[in-house]
Amino acid sequence: MTAAPVTVRVPAKVNVQLAVGGLRPDGFHDLANVFLAVGLYDEITATPSDRLRITVSGPDAHQVPLDESNLAARAALALAARHGVEPRVHLHIAKDIPVAGGMAGGSADGAGALLACDTLWETGATRDELLAICAELGSDVPFSLVGGAALGRGRGELLEPLETGGVLHWVFAVADGGLSTPAVYRECDRLREAAGTGSSAADVPEPAPSGDLLRALRTGDPGALAAVLANDLQPAAVSLRPSLTETLRAGSEGGALAALVSGSGPTCAFLAKDPEAAEGVAEALLRSATCRAVRVTSGPVPGATVLR
Ligand code: C5P
Repeated sequence: MTAAPVTVRVPAKVNVQLAVGGLRPDGFHDLANVFLAVGLYDEITATPSDRLRITVSGPDAHQVPLDESNLAARAALALAARHGVEPRVHLHIAKDIPVAGGMAGGSADGAGALLACDTLWETGATRDELLAICAELGSDVPFSLVGGAALGRGRGELLEPLETGGVLHWVFAVADGGLSTPAVYRECDRLREAAGTGSSAADVPEPAPSGDLLRALRTGDPGALAAVLANDLQPAAVSLRPSLTETLRAGSEGGALAALVSGSGPTCAFLAKDPEAAEGVAEALLRSATCRAVRVTSGPVPGATVLR
């Protein structure tokens, strides 16, 4: 065990393709989930303590649970149990990723806490063990550890790294209030039932990654990528939060190459041609007053990284 605090930086994600299969008997959906890590970060600092304690700072701190429902706490408990260590750690989360926004903020904290505790306690877990614990914590948590760009199969936890050809410029419109991921998946099922297509794994075609999209990522061509960005959860997120239509329109009119809901939302993501175009989209979104905050960033960026 080291006595010095350990800080880990973990990025947010956007899904450039989220193809959702039918509802499985275990309550999850099979996915073809193309993740891209982007440069908005939470920082998790682990310090020795007399007991497991979570604190959070940042503008959305009041929305983050401090009990064992927090993925950071669950990560520490899972690692401690496997290695016979007492989970005596203070985890401080400096939160910059929007909460319940569809950008994997909670997953980032899980992956970050896991890596921070592994470093602090010198448990020496292998990469595969860390990935297995991440997968137990949640479907998006393994990607927060890995970062870059990856295709997630299964419920999103089975990752295959993807090659990317350049920096992509993004603008994110942060909504007032979050959306619950299970509620958005339920709404997706409800809309499929209402459309008469059915929602079970037998009714919905197996989700598959788009060849055009993987090619566009490889070449890093934002125009080509914009033409094929796709999120099967978008109709459900918009159904639960109809005002997102205005946000998506405002960013498109502001010059975005493409607009889509990020993951289960309600954060909206806008792909821009270059940094100048991204600033133009951000200004248009701010003028439109259709969102609470606007963030400009780029990706891909690396996954969870120990800073000190
Ligand atoms: O894995 P995670 O805990 O993040 O998932 C939260 C909820 O999102 C699940 O309980 C489920 O309702 C929904 N989900 C899903 N299919 C996935 C991932 C998540 O239905 N592939």
